[in-house]
Amino acid sequence: MGFHFSLFLFLASLSVIWAQNVEDVTIVVNGTEVVTNTDDNYICATVDWWPHDKCNYDQCPWGSTSVINLDLTHPNLAKAIQAFKQLRIRIGGSLQDQVLYHVGNLQSPCHPFQKMASGLFGFSKGCLEMDRWDEVNHFLSKTGALVTFGLNALHGRHQIKKGVWGGNWDSSNAHDFIEYTVSKGYQIDSWEFGNELSGSGVGASVAAEQYGKDLINLKAIINNLYKDLHPKPLLVAPGGFY
Ligand SMILES: *[C@@H]1O[C@H](CO)[C@@H](O)[C@H](O)[C@H]1NC(C)=O
Repeated sequence: MGFHFSLFLFLASLSVIWAQNVEDVTIVVNGTEVVTNTDDNYICATVDWWPHDKCNYDQCPWGSTSVINLDLTHPNLAKAIQAFKQLRIRIGGSLQDQVLYHVGNLQSPCHPFQKMASGLFGFSKGCLEMDRWDEVNHFLSKTGALVTFGLNALHGRHQIKKGVWGGNWDSSNAHDFIEYTVSKGYQIDSWEFGNELSGSGVGASVAAEQYGKDLINLKAIINNLYKDLHPKPLLVAPGGFY
């Protein structure tokens, strides 16, 4: 009885505290002012990196749907994309920050994703071969899709505590990859910086100041590599999980 009474008093005092914060406000909605626009290409599908052996809840649903193993010659695939007129295709997902691009001065070995208990999301680093990147682009250019590509924003960093990564982004591999992409004339609508690394992150996060510094670096790389080209691709950031 005593407990119930004190709980009642506690709730009663809370409602007094809440009542004190009530204010009358007037909200004016200016219906003539455009704050932002949603463009015609807001319908988006992601092509992910998950390998066939990514399993959850006793199911391994990914099969051959990844950037690496998707059957690009399937007759219905291009038609399905074309049916959307200009579908946005985002290439990315949880594993994108562990992808190495096999191009330029890559110093580390480039191996396919493998299950690794200690790895981020349970996988090792993975590898995108340029032959495959060529095939993906030949396919996408036929479909008229707009392409957003998520770059490996954890490359060169290290884990400083659970879920938190520090150190500068090593941009060299992304630089060489973008340079290759430009040299081939592949159309990238936008480059995304990391997969949901801002805020609390999903799996991994990078502090705002560090993330901002690396973003300025990436912006400079894009401006430099596309300096004679128009339109320049957009930079998509921050990708966050809040
Ligand atoms: C609404 O926005 C328009 C366009 O910016 C502006 O001209 C107008 O003064 C605004 N009206 C009010 C009531 O703020």
